[in-house]
Amino acid sequence: MPSCSPTRNPFTAEETPAVAVSFEGLSKSFGDHVVLKDITFNVEPGEIFVLMGPSGSGKSVLLKHIVGLEAPTSGRVLLDGHDAADEEVRAQIRIGLVFQAGALFNSLTVYDNLALYLREHRLSTEPKIREKVMHALKILSLENTAAKFPSELSGGMKKRVAIARALVMEPQLLLYDEPTSELDPVMSATISEIIAALKDEYHVTSIVVSHDRDLARSIADRVGILMDGKLMHLGPPSTLQNPSDPRLKDFLNPKIDLKNPRFKKLET
Ligand SMILES: Nc1ncnc2c1ncn2[C@@H]1O[C@H](COP(=O)(O)OP(=O)(O)OP(=O)(O)O)[C@@H](O)[C@H]1O
Ligand SMILES: [Mg+2]
Repeated sequence: MPSCSPTRNPFTAEETPAVAVSFEGLSKSFGDHVVLKDITFNVEPGEIFVLMGPSGSGKSVLLKHIVGLEAPTSGRVLLDGHDAADEEVRAQIRIGLVFQAGALFNSLTVYDNLALYLREHRLSTEPKIREKVMHALKILSLENTAAKFPSELSGGMKKRVAIARALVMEPQLLLYDEPTSELDPVMSATISEIIAALKDEYHVTSIVVSHDRDLARSIADRVGILMDGKLMHLGPPSTLQNPSDPRLKDFLNPKIDLKNPRFKKLET
């Protein structure tokens, strides 16, 4: 395991100006299945924007358009005014993506998972890579995991490694897909704190897809809610308290109905 005790922050906020993200009439269909319908909104540079919505409402699909993993059926996504569908535009901007399932390389140690991007892009010397990797691990309280493989980590640790890996590339834009799913409430709160701290320290723009209402209430600058392919709600977290739309109300404050007829035994 590489030994290094980071004493200073090897990343510099000045080098990583935050990026503005604009969705302009974004629509996406898979065959006959319309997932996103004419979505228009802006995410400001340095903002934490939390995107919520029922399962299957298109949150991950929307994120994938930002990194070119999906192409719009119509409309576009702009990064600082330039079309995100253009590979050259994306190449100019460092975008960290924390995938829903972590997406770590199981055959690589935690250290090598983090170092991979810097090595592949020949961005740093090995001593500088070590400094950056160990600093990112320290921020996420993962110093002791550098030599471990992903299979040796808990779910919460894997989530934190995925964030550390995104951080190593000094992102201008951080995209998180369900960063607190499958975590206990304490670990979820820790991840929320980390997302907020990264915004403060590195001034990145953050788009966080999440079902976690506590996360939205505690760290979001603004919250958007996707439903039926449309952006049903857009506003600061305080606007989630008393939504007027009944569908939003049901989504944000679901009732548990123990007498739901759906659960009756089939008659034989
Ligand atoms: N490559 C694809 N081909 C066809 N359909 C797709 C594809 N990717 C996503 N979909 C469909 O698009 C819809 C939205 O999927 P998406 O993964 O964005 O949902 P989500 O809002 O992220 O849900 P969850 O909260 O469960 O993660 C789903 O009905 C899904 O089946
Ligand atoms: Mg998803």
